[in-house]
Amino acid sequence: MDSIVIIGASGHCKVIIDIIEKRNEYIIMGLIDSYKTAGENIMGYPILGNESLIPDLLNTQKIIGGIIAIGDNWVRSEMCDIIKALAPTFKFIPAIHPNAILYNNLHIQEGVVIMAGAIVNSGSTIEAFCFLNTKASLGHDSIMHPYASLAPNVTIAGQVEIGAFSAISISATISNAIKIGSHTVIGASALVLKDVEDLVVAYGIPAKKIRSRRIGDVYL
Ligand SMILES: CC(C)(COP(=O)(O)OP(=O)(O)OC[C@H]1O[C@@H](n2cnc3c(N)ncnc32)[C@H](O)[C@@H]1OP(=O)(O)O)[C@@H](O)C(=O)NCCC(=O)NCCS
Repeated sequence: MDSIVIIGASGHCKVIIDIIEKRNEYIIMGLIDSYKTAGENIMGYPILGNESLIPDLLNTQKIIGGIIAIGDNWVRSEMCDIIKALAPTFKFIPAIHPNAILYNNLHIQEGVVIMAGAIVNSGSTIEAFCFLNTKASLGHDSIMHPYASLAPNVTIAGQVEIGAFSAISISATISNAIKIGSHTVIGASALVLKDVEDLVVAYGIPAKKIRSRRIGDVYL
């Protein structure tokens, strides 16, 4: 089995460790984290150090790549850019829980995480580095652009488009054929019945724009 590392050692990391262990396709050599102390242990795996170690791990320890376990969509993209610059051969694997339900005819790109109980319906595309959290469902023929995320229990109808970096918060519902712009946050438990523009926070029933946001603003 090939060896990998997981980048980011907080809550998402624990969920991703569980997925990788259950799928039994890779050996986790350790964790990479910029803030935690090397040698600390999480679920039996050591923190090896920060991302500057990655080129050496590829060359001498023969890892093939790994996965980024950072929940914030913008911060995940910044880490991805750093790793791509440091180590162009690093392979970003997907992590798909064995108890996720995936219909036929899907397109799932690199670095995607799909957690337990999530459902992805036929004809959908999940572009690179998207996260689908526990029990989120994505309807048929939908598309999530890179670094978009669905929080737990989100329900997305068919033919929905979710823009890059946008976060759909816990228990939100999006009706059919809706387009969500990029860098937008749909708040918890919102009901989205109309398209939502780029770079806004929207919530409520029905969801309305609450305020504008800037690229990279914190939302978790
Ligand atoms: C979108 C979100 C970030 C907005 O949070 P916020 O910035 O604290 O909210 P605001 O400053 O806009 O809050 C203004 C008011 O609206 C309320 N409010 C915030 N989010 C709301 C929502 N989704 N629905 C209804 N009311 C909401 C606030 O409680 C506040 O009320 P108050 O003035 O009476 O105190 C938040 O609603 C959210 O969804 N967070 C993410 C939760 C999530 O998904 N977590 C799991 C991730 S895996």
